Amino acid sequence: MAILDKHGVIEKNATLLLIFAFLVVTIGGIVEIVPLFYLENTIEKVDGMRPYTPLELTGRDIYVREGCYVCHSQMIRPMRDEVERYGHYSLAAESMYDHPFQWGSKRTGPDLARVGGRYSDAWHVDHLTNPQSVVPESVMPKYGFLKHRMIEPTYIEDRLKTDEFVGVPYTSEMIANAKADFAAQADPNADTDGLQERYGSAAFKGGRDVNVRNFDGQPGISEMDALIAYLQVLGTMVDFSTFEPVASR
Ligand code: HEC
Repeated sequence: MAILDKHGVIEKNATLLLIFAFLVVTIGGIVEIVPLFYLENTIEKVDGMRPYTPLELTGRDIYVREGCYVCHSQMIRPMRDEVERYGHYSLAAESMYDHPFQWGSKRTGPDLARVGGRYSDAWHVDHLTNPQSVVPESVMPKYGFLKHRMIEPTYIEDRLKTDEFVGVPYTSEMIANAKADFAAQADPNADTDGLQERYGSAAFKGGRDVNVRNFDGQPGISEMDALIAYLQVLGTMVDFSTFEPVASR
């Protein structure tokens, strides 16, 4: 065919082939990339998502510091075996306030994306202190020292501001009350009206109330309190009994 004969010209001339290949890749690239610049948002908005409370955010920083992500992923893939084991597959929106996200690529231990509410606080204290006391064959290291490391929220306002700077919707009120909210969440006797007003069900459509407990069961606020507050909220913000993906609406 005549058109294929002409193609032979390109195939026999390396320079010409290079020029045309470059053109094809350029056009293809533009077509794929340019529309992304005009998208308002690539993440589907989901009810219930809220920024972490100051205590949860502190716990998250401890999670990152201790390298828990080296053994634990936080992304349930939309495949049947994963969903049956861990629960509803992870939504993009569920990690939209994570900087950096903790999806991970290594599972020496189980995925933790929906570990929130699965175990009691006391179970977490026992497990983190001595994983082998709960799961004898566990290779997880011991983190009992977290109970003895008391924390002051010295830089918590700055911490919230940093996340606000990269797009997490912390309000000026949340930042101004960060120290009080930090302390209130770990104290079952504290006045938590303000904390719930800022982060609870009234503040976010479809949201839930913040867990307020003495997470580690001992006086004072330790790193253990913060880490467990974080673990207990993982994967619990979105209510999957009412959630419907946009595509099926
Ligand atoms: C060396 C790898 C390793 C590291 C590091 C590690 N874990 Fe684990 N983790 C495991 C393994 C293996 C299991 C499964 C056995 C068990 O429950 O101990 C596990 C289980 C868990 C579970 C129970 C999950 C479930 O659904 O049963 C939680 C919660 C957990 N780890 C939290 C953490 C946290 C928080 C850190 C960081 C402070 C951490 N892990 C660090 C290996 C690790």
